[in-house]
Amino acid sequence: MPDKLQESTREFTGKVVIVTGAARGIGRAIAEDLLARGARLILVDRNALGVSEAVETLRHAYGSMVDFVVADLADPREIKELALAIRTLDVSVDVLINNAAIELDLPLSEVTAMVFDHVIAVNLRAPLLVSQALIPFFPETGGAIVNISSIHASHAFENSIPYACSKAGLVALTRNLALELASRNIRVNAVCPGYIDTPMWDEWLRSSSDPQALAEQTAALHPLRRRGKPADVAAAVAYLAGPQAAWVTGTHLVVDGGLTIRAHP
Ligand SMILES: NC(=O)c1ccc[n+]([C@@H]2O[C@H](COP(=O)([O-])OP(=O)(O)OC[C@H]3O[C@@H](n4cnc5c(N)ncnc54)[C@H](O)[C@@H]3O)[C@@H](O)[C@H]2O)c1
Repeated sequence: MPDKLQESTREFTGKVVIVTGAARGIGRAIAEDLLARGARLILVDRNALGVSEAVETLRHAYGSMVDFVVADLADPREIKELALAIRTLDVSVDVLINNAAIELDLPLSEVTAMVFDHVIAVNLRAPLLVSQALIPFFPETGGAIVNISSIHASHAFENSIPYACSKAGLVALTRNLALELASRNIRVNAVCPGYIDTPMWDEWLRSSSDPQALAEQTAALHPLRRRGKPADVAAAVAYLAGPQAAWVTGTHLVVDGGLTIRAHP
């Protein structure tokens, strides 16, 4: 058995976890963290090449406890196909992590109905429809759903209207799903990350005229003096999805190095 697996805590042993948007970035880090904690993982992503490469790497480190399904979650038909694929795998689902999302930086004048609808479809409608489609696979004893929202849910940033609306909606969805699913003992919580170093973040930095200066400025904005790492988010997800949070539902946990606690930046 690989060393990494032996060294880790194993509170997810015997649990099946689905992570959407797991080909790269935060989703991939969440997958790796939960694998290290003993879970069996099913990664979902629209990026077929990326997710199959991620699975190959993870299998190398953690053995055969990881599968994947390719699905574009913007399309409700593909969400139905995802449920069929889960049925074919013949597993129950203990934990669902709704992580897949897109971020488009657009000024108000460029926010068309089509762009707005697409961001909402991926970032808000998909977590709803994926949760709905996968609830039948949860065991009678219950389980956990964790939605990856953002500090954009509570704070305004330039050029972020569709993304911010989707992430604020996701916090509301989290509370309402938590209420509806409490009788099934399915807990539903959200994590709101701040600036995390991922490919999504790199793309944003590269779109500026001086990426290095922007990287330094954003690190300095944090009371904890650095941007976050995907592993910082994964640790919060593991808490909310795991047994330590057995009496926690309908809440959101801000993981941002203190970025949003200052009255004045
Ligand atoms: N990176 C940050 O600083 C940051 C901050 C706050 C919140 N978040 C949130 O964390 C989550 C992960 O962000 P990230 O930075 O790792 O992003 P990322 O762009 O690096 O990865 C997102 C993944 O989701 C997949 N995806 C996108 N649209 C999809 C769709 N329609 N169907 C299936 N898969 C799809 C992509 O292929 C990709 O693998 C997102 O919900 C994001 O909004 C990120």
